[in-house]
Parts: sequence; C-alpha cells; structure tokens
Amino acid sequence: MTTQRLSGKVALITGATGGIGAATAELFAREGARLVLADVAEEALAALARRIEETGGQAVSVVLDVSSARQWDDAITTVRERFGTLDVLVNCAGIVDWPGIEDTREEAWDRVIDVNQKGTWLGMRAAMPLLRANGNASVVNTSSVLGLVGSGAAAAYQASKGAVRLLSKTAAVEYARQGVRVNSVHPGVIATPMIQEILDEEGDRQPDIVRTPMRRAGRAEEIAAAMLFLAGDESSFVTGSELVVDGGLTAH
Ligand SMILES: NC(=O)c1ccc[n+]([C@@H]2O[C@H](COP(=O)([O-])OP(=O)(O)OC[C@H]3O[C@@H](n4cnc5c(N)ncnc54)[C@H](O)[C@@H]3O)[C@@H](O)[C@H]2O)c1
Repeated sequence: MTTQRLSGKVALITGATGGIGAATAELFAREGARLVLADVAEEALAALARRIEETGGQAVSVVLDVSSARQWDDAITTVRERFGTLDVLVNCAGIVDWPGIEDTREEAWDRVIDVNQKGTWLGMRAAMPLLRANGNASVVNTSSVLGLVGSGAAAAYQASKGAVRLLSKTAAVEYARQGVRVNSVHPGVIATPMIQEILDEEGDRQPDIVRTPMRRAGRAEEIAAAMLFLAGDESSFVTGSELVVDGGLTAH
C-alpha cells in the first residue's frame, strides 16, 4: 500500500545501501520521493538504484564518503543539477567499533568519529543552503540507543552517537525559523549487516535482545517507518526531538 506521503519530494539518503538505508530508500520511493542514493559501496548503489527504478521509482546514485567535505560538495552539486532542490536529508551512513575505553585503537576512534559524527555535520553543512532555500525541509540524523545510554563498550561509537543527538538539537534550534526541521532517530538492536556477526553468534540469547522488553531484534523497515514520519509533513511541528525505536530497550 502506498500513501504517497513524500510525493514530489527530493530526498538524499547516505548509507543508502546498508540495512536501514536501503529499507528507507525503498519506502521513500514507494511514498513518491525522488531519491539521491549516497554510499561508499559503488556496486550496491547501482543495484539499489536499478531495483528502485524497476518498481517505478526515481533514483540517482552518488558515490560519497561522508567524511569528505569535497565529496559532499560534489554530491550536493549533483542534487542541484538534477533536481534544483532538496526536501529531505537522511544521514544514515555509519560504522561501528566495539571495544571499550582501553582497547579502542586511536585510528579506529578517529575513523568512527569522522564517519558518524563529522560526516553528519558535513552533510548538514553542505546541504543546508538547498534545504533553507526549500523552506519546508527535514533532516533526519541517525543516532542510536547508544547515543542515549552507556553500554560499557563501543567507546568511539557511543561518543559519536551521543554527539549526533546534540548536534541535531542545536541544528534544530539554529534553523527552526528557516524552514528546516532536524531530528534524530535512535534505533535499538536492528537486524542489519552492521550487527549480523553478533546476532549469528548469540542468536536469541544476545544480551541486548534479552534486555529488550519485546525480546527480539527490530527490522530495518521499522526504522524506515520512523524516518518516513520525520521526513514528511506529518511531523511539521517536530524538531529537535529524538525518536527512539528500540522495542523498549531504554525504557528500563
Ligand atoms: N543495526 C543496528 O542495530 C543499529 C542500531 C542503532 C543505530 N544504527 C545506525 O543506523 C545506521 C545504519 O546502520 P545499519 O544497521 O543499516 O548498518 P549497515 O552496515 O547495514 O549500513 C551502513 C551503511 O553505511 C555505509 N557507509 C559506511 N561508511 C561510510 C562512509 N564513510 N560514507 C558513506 N557511507 C558509508 C555502508 O557502506 C553501509 O551501506 C548507522 O548510522 C548505524 O550506526 C544501527
């Protein structure tokens, strides 16, 4: 069923070929959005764009490492040339590093911060002129439950996702009167390639699933639905908010 909730809107999604990114891209396409798919995974990008076009959607792909300011400028130039406007930016690209404080390597720390935290800022910085000119735009940044509570591990990832949460709030305040809403989504344990190794290893006994009141991992589509709400006009009075989608994990 499609309700065309993004009819005519142009949406740029980073990390578009990942579990959550692809589910979001496919949902947005079904809801009428014209898509700019961005990722470092070139072949997967082409396959996703084909899939979306075969089902009647419209998608352009750009190879983009979100930690590169220059590549962001190129991506936004593509958006400007192809569509002349931008309604929605979904910053979904992300990487994880699991070790805690003492075992985190400096290079891993830097890369996680560069992609997750700096990449989110660079994306907003590059896209903001088009979003402001649009006057009714929405940015959805992807944080995590690990941007809300401590886990005792994943030091760099936690730091980056905590930063995404507050970066979203300050941007929401900065652009509130310029027609750009900014919110963050906080997924819990979601079955995607990012955590597949852990899910395979531990199955249903995975501690985070055991601690999740719903006793299961979420599906990427369940995060995409939250992205859709924040991207579209139904959330027109929602800015600076954090939408937690975690099966109750952080409720206790
Ligand atoms: N899966 C979970 O349990 C979970 C939980 C909370 C938050 N998240 C967040 O959701 C987002 C999507 O994660 P996912 O679960 O779909 O993981 P995923 O690994 O399936 O997807 C991540 C995508 O980001 C892309 N990417 C990585 N580095 C990039 C870079 N430098 N530039 C551009 N693209 C890059 C990858 O190619 C991949 O397509 C991430 O920000 C992640 O931190 C995931």
